[in-house]
Amino acid sequence: MEIDWDSLTFSFTATDVMYRQVIPAGSEWGEGDLLPFGDISISPAAGVLNYGQGIFEGMKAQRADDGSIVLFRPKQNSARFAIGAERLGMPPVPEKIFIDAIESVIRENERWIPPTGRGALYVRPVLWGSGAILGVAPAPEFTFMVFVCPVGPYFKGGMSPISLRVSDEFHRAAPGGSGGVKAIGNYAPGMMPSKMAKKEGYAEIIYLDAVEHRYVEEVGAANFFCVKDQVLYTPELTGTILPGITRDSIVQLARDSGYTVHEEKVDVEFAMQADEAFCAGTAAVISPIGRIEHGDKVTEYCDGEVGEITHQLYHSLLDIQLRRAEDKHDWIHVVKE
Ligand code: PLP
Ligand code: COI
Repeated sequence: MEIDWDSLTFSFTATDVMYRQVIPAGSEWGEGDLLPFGDISISPAAGVLNYGQGIFEGMKAQRADDGSIVLFRPKQNSARFAIGAERLGMPPVPEKIFIDAIESVIRENERWIPPTGRGALYVRPVLWGSGAILGVAPAPEFTFMVFVCPVGPYFKGGMSPISLRVSDEFHRAAPGGSGGVKAIGNYAPGMMPSKMAKKEGYAEIIYLDAVEHRYVEEVGAANFFCVKDQVLYTPELTGTILPGITRDSIVQLARDSGYTVHEEKVDVEFAMQADEAFCAGTAAVISPIGRIEHGDKVTEYCDGEVGEITHQLYHSLLDIQLRRAEDKHDWIHVVKE
């Protein structure tokens, strides 16, 4: 089958091979299996289906400029996956098993990796409490799986600036909850608000903090940044925000380029007076924000154009990810030279 790389969006496509490993509670992770991609059988009483005992990760395998197949900082995803597993009462997958599993699934699905610059192979590891359980407690069996999908841009229009609305009605996470890990249960409550916003022409929702309803937290499933007087601001990690790997990389790249970066509480009023704004994540990469609406206030950034610093950071990140620039921080993980 011919794949039309240029019409890829961020959507599901079945690929050839997936990975699966199932262990009973109390035992160690070992060797998993590579299987043809397809449906699996699971008890209707599975912990993940009834009580949301599950986490996921997201990475992109890309074909770099030199033809190699690379991942970006997958050990960070492995570390975050382990923290999430602990938070949800599941056995963490050791780094070597995590990395070996994703590498083998990528290799087996090589034909699905888009040509350089025309998309990526999105890698989705999941960990579920798959055993049957009726009481609210960790499941008696756990499943670690990895599947992949070729993807294009997360937001329609790729690098064209998006329009967002600040929600005064919904919050994503509260202190002490699970907002700081990629728990599957964090995502369904955002679907309806996001769908409503999309219907009204916004690309996503901006969530404010649940305590004071004043500070920017995240943009749907991406981290928030703004630039004011050449200084970069991003919400500090307080436990309610997902510690994005793209976020961490942008903070580092901006500092490498001599910019001051403040990781602190970002008041929505301040964000709306900034010079530039963008959101960042594996799926979103760096997506410029052209407009934010909050109640009856509206801010348009950079006359709808991509801001200069946003543009610069986007290219710095992409150049490293596609091996066009020196990988000073050892972020590139080669799957196949
Ligand atoms: N915030 C949320 C809620 C996310 O789901 C993601 C996606 O993983 C991010 C931020 C960005 O994180 P990363 O850059 O590690 O993909
Ligand atoms: C990612 O950026 O990898 C995400 O997880 C975004 C979304 C698909 C949940």
